[in-house]
Amino acid sequence: MRIIVTSDLHYNIARSKRPTRALAEKICRIGGDVLVFAGDTTGGPASRFEEAFGLFEGFKGPRLAIAGNHDIWVTGGDDSLHRYENELRDICSQNDVHYLDAEPFYADDAAIVGNMGWYDFSFRPARLQIPLRYYQAKVAPGAAERLGGYQHLEPADDVPRNALEVTTRWMDGERVNLALSDVAFTHKLAETFRRHLAEASERSERICAIVHHVPFAELVPHSILPNWEFATAFHGSELFGEIILDFPKVRRVFCGHIHKEMRCRRGLFEATSIGSTYKEKAYEIFDL
Ligand SMILES: [Fe+2]
Ligand SMILES: [Fe+2]
Repeated sequence: MRIIVTSDLHYNIARSKRPTRALAEKICRIGGDVLVFAGDTTGGPASRFEEAFGLFEGFKGPRLAIAGNHDIWVTGGDDSLHRYENELRDICSQNDVHYLDAEPFYADDAAIVGNMGWYDFSFRPARLQIPLRYYQAKVAPGAAERLGGYQHLEPADDVPRNALEVTTRWMDGERVNLALSDVAFTHKLAETFRRHLAEASERSERICAIVHHVPFAELVPHSILPNWEFATAFHGSELFGEIILDFPKVRRVFCGHIHKEMRCRRGLFEATSIGSTYKEKAYEIFDL
């Protein structure tokens, strides 16, 4: 089974439109057995997804998708968990796309197991010495000071002075609306991912695992810039990597989310971050 994996098309963002259309033409031309969208396909109403998936209608085989964090951004108090579990599932089925977060994909003796993944702050950078509560609020100390409204993070006497120069925030904090904590959400998704991998291991000989967020610390890109380094807390969770390693039939792992190509080897398989940016779209081909 020849799998083509792409990610982070962000088709709702102006500068991503032209490169996504070029990518769609290329992927439809080269062809494959299965096409996977590894999250952050677009955002907003169902029509946006219809447009984005529609570009790949010329692809001959089944099209599969997982959710990305941008796909569960909501407005007006809507619930991101409902969007993740129900709306995205319906949007995918209306577009003839298999929603991997709901169930694995099977073909012959191979399976593709996918999940959005999330972050439990296991990748948060120790060297910045920023207390956990700032990551939970998705705002760096410098941004909390500048923006105001974060009195609940005080007293800030455990924050080193240079941490006040970290001025970024992670926009999921504004756009993702969950009734449960990020750690609880990560565990909820991880449980489903484990169940799907167990089911696929029963039914199949070979598995390709695809997660939107990063499952292995080696795939997290580090930076000397504190604002970039702060963001690594939201790149993923090592829990997903640990789960993958429990299933020896996994032959290959892909993720998206970080907009940078990264690769690492774990035992028998390679794990790859696809590396699409807003302006340049990337894909990988793997024969499972
Ligand atoms: Fe993205
Ligand atoms: Fe993402």
